[in-house]
Order: sequence, then structure tokens, then C-alpha cells
Amino acid sequence: MTSICIITGSTLGGAEYVADHINEVLTDQGFEVELFNQAQLSDIEGKSHLIVVTSTHGAGELPENIQPLFADLAESSADFSSMKFGVIGLGSSDYDTFCNAVNLVEDALKAKGATQVCESLRIDVVNNFDHDSSAEEWLPAFVENL
Ligand SMILES: Cc1cc2nc3c(=O)[nH]c(=O)nc-3n(C[C@H](O)[C@H](O)[C@H](O)COP(=O)(O)O)c2cc1C
Repeated sequence: MTSICIITGSTLGGAEYVADHINEVLTDQGFEVELFNQAQLSDIEGKSHLIVVTSTHGAGELPENIQPLFADLAESSADFSSMKFGVIGLGSSDYDTFCNAVNLVEDALKAKGATQVCESLRIDVVNNFDHDSSAEEWLPAFVENL
């Protein structure tokens, strides 16, 4: 059975709701899913499949709850070359830095050798009011390329 690890970066809970939804969908599809809302580096080390669901905060920054993880990742000498990952972002197009956390996550994981499975989803909360459905529609692009 394929195992998928999901982690969330969220300040106000929106990304966590989306992660809860894709957790349910993937579990129903027969995947073994682990979900971390306060992930540590040790939670993702050695994982073969990772989905990061993150909003963007500050001026194009990662939410505070995953900043320590990505700071630790940057300093880590761990090899993530056996990891395949996908990213779902929530952000607002009112900001010049729309969904910049997605770019930060992509760069950080690729720098450690991980492989991006498919194009990241960037949900614009200004005009998209069904984040769960958008994430669910993105999932096949991820799972069909594992
Ligand atoms: C203080 C603040 C700063 C934000 N900065 C950005 C930003 O730089 N880029 C962006 O795309 N969205 C930005 N947003 C929008 C959030 O990413 C968006 O509201 C998202 O849905 C929040 O998700 P969350 O509930 O998981 O934190 C910001 C929102 C707030 C409140």
C-alpha cells in the first residue's frame, strides 16, 4: 500500500481544512495517510511521498508553524532523493507575493534532492470559495504520477 505523508502550514486553519479533506479522499482511495499539523523534520525524513498544504503569510513567507521545519531542513544534510512531493497553496492575489510559500517549499525540497511530481496547485482565496473541491481535483495529477 502506498503511504502518503501530508503536512500543513497554516495560521488561520484554512490549509488544515484542505489537508483534512484530502486525507479523507486519499484514505477512501486506499492510501495509507499520515497528517501532521505541526510537523518536525523527523516526521518527513525517509518518507517516500509528501504533500505540503500551505498558506502564505507575512510578506510572502511560510506560516510560522512550518518555519522551524524548513529552517531545520535547510541546515540538514539528509538526502531526500527518494521522496516525491506535491504542493497545494492557499493565498490571496491581493498580495504581490501570491502563494510565495509554494515557491519556498518547492525550492527547499528540490534542494534536498526530492522530486516534484506535478505542478503545484495555487488556490486564490479571493475568488475560489471551494478549496476542498479544487484540492480534490488536483489530486489525480499527484497520485497518477507516483
Ligand atoms: C497577515 C496576512 C498576510 C498574508 N500574506 C499573504 C501573502 O504574502 N501572499 C499570499 O498569497 N497570501 C497572503 N495572505 C492570505 C492567506 O494566505 C490566505 O488568507 C489563506 O487562506 C490563509 O490560510 P490559513 O488559514 O491556512 O492560514 C495573507 C493573509 C494575512 C492575514
